[in-house]
Amino acid sequence: MMSQKVAVVTGSSSGLGYETSLVLARIGFDTYATMRNIEGGGAKQIADIAKNENLPLEIIQLNVDNDNSVSDAINRIVSEKNSIDIVVNNAGYDLMGALEETSMDEIKAQFETNSFGALRVMQAVIPTMRKQGGVIVNTTSLGGRISFPLNSAYHATKFALEGLSESIRYELEPFGIKIIVIEPGGVGSNFLKNLKMATKTSDPLNAPYRSLENRISEYFKQWLQNAIHPSEVAKVILQAVTSDNPDFRYVVGKDAAMALESRRNMSDKEFHDSMKKQINL
Ligand SMILES: NC(=O)c1ccc[n+]([C@@H]2O[C@H](COP(=O)([O-])OP(=O)(O)OC[C@H]3O[C@@H](n4cnc5c(N)ncnc54)[C@H](OP(=O)(O)O)[C@@H]3O)[C@@H](O)[C@H]2O)c1
Repeated sequence: MMSQKVAVVTGSSSGLGYETSLVLARIGFDTYATMRNIEGGGAKQIADIAKNENLPLEIIQLNVDNDNSVSDAINRIVSEKNSIDIVVNNAGYDLMGALEETSMDEIKAQFETNSFGALRVMQAVIPTMRKQGGVIVNTTSLGGRISFPLNSAYHATKFALEGLSESIRYELEPFGIKIIVIEPGGVGSNFLKNLKMATKTSDPLNAPYRSLENRISEYFKQWLQNAIHPSEVAKVILQAVTSDNPDFRYVVGKDAAMALESRRNMSDKEFHDSMKKQINL
């Protein structure tokens, strides 16, 4: 077993966060599987596994949207363990809809979780990590590098997290803090179930974006048929955080690798046209 490091994972009630908390605990890290609802099915399931396998895993409440929730959770972990070695910023969801039909409140909420949530956790852990070093993993997405139609707010949050991650590397490197970005393609989690549709109606009589909505929904459904299991992403995260010399970016899944390869080899116009062709626009 490796030396007992302390790991914190956000959004551990399902999907990538759930699997990542388990792989980190299974390798012997003292793992805090944090989630906003500690009474839900995900909490019970992961607690049962931890009990059966005698894993060093503790569930604590952390809502990334909330300043007090984040600082209470991080303060508690620091007071219990005196250190935090690994943080996996994973909590997030997709807000789908045409920009015109998405309210400012919906867009702000999307940023609050996907971008500011990760940022809030980083601000809370950096003072501790600066004294001892550590690894921060930010889960962005293939959607943090390329954009699909009707997901503008989601892409904006993930591009923002990519940019922020690139910038803070410079300031944190001297203190031994590594930043890693994980960019999965399609993953079979609760992501689609938790997806939020924009609720504003731009033109009740005409529904100007309806046909695009139908096409993109169909495209996503088909695409996610080949989605990888979230444990595949968790394995990559484990490999990254246990490496002495990790890469900055980890693209996870053949779909993501292929899409990024195409993007690299095409002009903006060629890529735009190829996306339209794939979605049948
Ligand atoms: N699935 C994909 O195809 C895919 C691809 C690329 C990137 N990603 C990214 O991977 C990450 C994990 O997604 P997933 O696929 O595992 O989806 P998921 O199964 O829906 O899991 C999302 C997790 O985030 C949590 N969460 C949402 N808002 C939160 C908040 N305010 N505070 C704390 N936790 C919160 C959810 O908790 P609740 O149970 O309480 O809702 C859930 O545990 C996301 O950042 C997503 O953008 C996913």
